[in-house]
Amino acid sequence: MRENPQDGHSFANPDEVVVRHLDLDWDVRFDRRTLDGSATLHVERVVEGAGAALRLDTRDLSIIAVELSDDGADWTQTPFTLGEADPILGAPLEVTLSEAATQVRIAYTTSPGASGVQGLEPVQTAGKMHPFMFTQSQAIHARSWIPLQDTPGVRVTYRATVRTPPALRAVMSAANDAEMPLDGEFRFEMRQPIPSYLIALAVGDLAFRSMGARTGVYAEPSVVESAAAEFNDTEAMMAATERLYGPYRWERYDLLVLPPSFPFGGMENPRLTFATPTVIAGDKSLVALVAHELAHSWSGNLVTNATWRDFWLNEGVTVYLERRILEEVFGRTRVDMEATLDRQALDEELARLEPPDQILHIDLKGRDPDDGMNQVPYLKGELFLRLLEETVGRPRFDTFLRAYFDHFAFRSITTGDFVAYLNAHLLADDADADLAETLQIDAWLEQPGLPANAPRSMSDALTRVEQQAARWASGETAATVLETSDWTTQEWLHFLKSVPETLTAGQMAEFDEAFGFTEAGNSEVAHQWLLTAIRNQYEPAYLRFETYLVGIGRRKLIKPLYDELVKTPEGRARAEAIYERARPGYHPIAVSSIDEVVRP
Ligand code: BES
Ligand code: ZN
Repeated sequence: MRENPQDGHSFANPDEVVVRHLDLDWDVRFDRRTLDGSATLHVERVVEGAGAALRLDTRDLSIIAVELSDDGADWTQTPFTLGEADPILGAPLEVTLSEAATQVRIAYTTSPGASGVQGLEPVQTAGKMHPFMFTQSQAIHARSWIPLQDTPGVRVTYRATVRTPPALRAVMSAANDAEMPLDGEFRFEMRQPIPSYLIALAVGDLAFRSMGARTGVYAEPSVVESAAAEFNDTEAMMAATERLYGPYRWERYDLLVLPPSFPFGGMENPRLTFATPTVIAGDKSLVALVAHELAHSWSGNLVTNATWRDFWLNEGVTVYLERRILEEVFGRTRVDMEATLDRQALDEELARLEPPDQILHIDLKGRDPDDGMNQVPYLKGELFLRLLEETVGRPRFDTFLRAYFDHFAFRSITTGDFVAYLNAHLLADDADADLAETLQIDAWLEQPGLPANAPRSMSDALTRVEQQAARWASGETAATVLETSDWTTQEWLHFLKSVPETLTAGQMAEFDEAFGFTEAGNSEVAHQWLLTAIRNQYEPAYLRFETYLVGIGRRKLIKPLYDELVKTPEGRARAEAIYERARPGYHPIAVSSIDEVVRP
């Protein structure tokens, strides 16, 4: 079966027949770990007369029946073919359309192993009393719980009816009503057209706290207060983003805090960002994540990458916006620290990656788009935007970006569309005709590595941290007399990265005694310390990395620890033992990446 010529990660044929709206209806079956129900697709023929067939994406779905209708009232069964499953793309579902059909209703159930759905046992939740389930559709996992045109080039509106066990609440990336009674049935409507990777559902014992006129947080009851306190700058972030980039077009912005197995830091599901509980540090030190997911309401959700090759358009522009929001709300010192830490992370990532994977406009042919998810689209993408800003000046660049969001609002665009718009609206009217050339746009987008004109970051605060680390490493100062009392998380992280890689048992113990790293409550600081502990075989921390790796499922925090552990034979043995216990609690996305490390 041929793939979509526009998007190599979909079998759909939206160039012939395009889906505009979905009516979804499910029973959430915790007992079977499935969603049972139907998806009704409202289709439109793009080519008159053509398109007797509708091709959809599926993965591990059991299709029960397919029916057609031209009015939504009378339905007739129609034959369908489920093609052979491709290991990356799943199986194409082909439905023969009658000439008059405008709606296609597919009755189906998901598989307990669906790549985009995770069901959690009560013990995996904060409250330990109720099960929980949530979806994660990006990049191409929506097809594992909905048969649809799973390409970011197609946008749909949707309505959904979700039936749950009593006492649980369902929420979606749609209009949510925190007052909806917990009577086992929830209705949702998403009026703004969104790409399939932004369709999301979660069901659990969820409470709600308002944080402002347009913002609030859903979380398990025992978590919701601390979450609301941590995230109470969200309203201010929204206001700052609107000042810079124009109106927020999604009405409300709420957050959902998931149980710790959530495999990502955050996911920008429209109107309802999904977030890991590991960012609730108690001191707002990790809320850059909220700025990031909120920024996606402009870059990503409003103006969307048309294919996964263009992922940098989502993430690079978003990291740039994230920094601008942080600067407005927390000031320049914080941004300079984050940017400096990230530059170091990017340099390390580039050193690890093969040249083809260092390219922003990456070639993902024959690969899982999740494989393109490294720091390059985020941080090299951000540097490219910052270069544009620094070259034309902030006021002009702000005007440009705001117009860009308006121009492409609710559309999906490719890297080529971006470059054309950039040339026409920012570079063409410049007095300096060679601007496009000095910027080296082709090198930025199509070549590996980092062009020499990449902007640099400087943080005085982090430079002072390096000086202290050096003074300690040379033996000049003991850990206890370092001036750390006003350090933020970012400074602690940089300190741990600035001390020598190899430390003695005595030095490790000195740190632990002075700073209590092994018991650090901040998930990022703990992560960095555990990496140091593995490298230096620091046994007093062994118990902690067991609880850490079993308790947290956020891939970015756990995979590097496994990577580090398997470097020695005895570390590998420990990694295997811990993974044995931890794996059943991890999300399929985390499992598939960590299997490659621990069970190659
Ligand atoms: N959209 C991404 C998460 C994502 C990307 C999921 C690709 C699946 C495939 C989200 O906006 C994101 O980037 N999250 C980051 C946090 C952010 C602060 C950099 C994460 O989860 O680590
Ligand atoms: Zn993002």
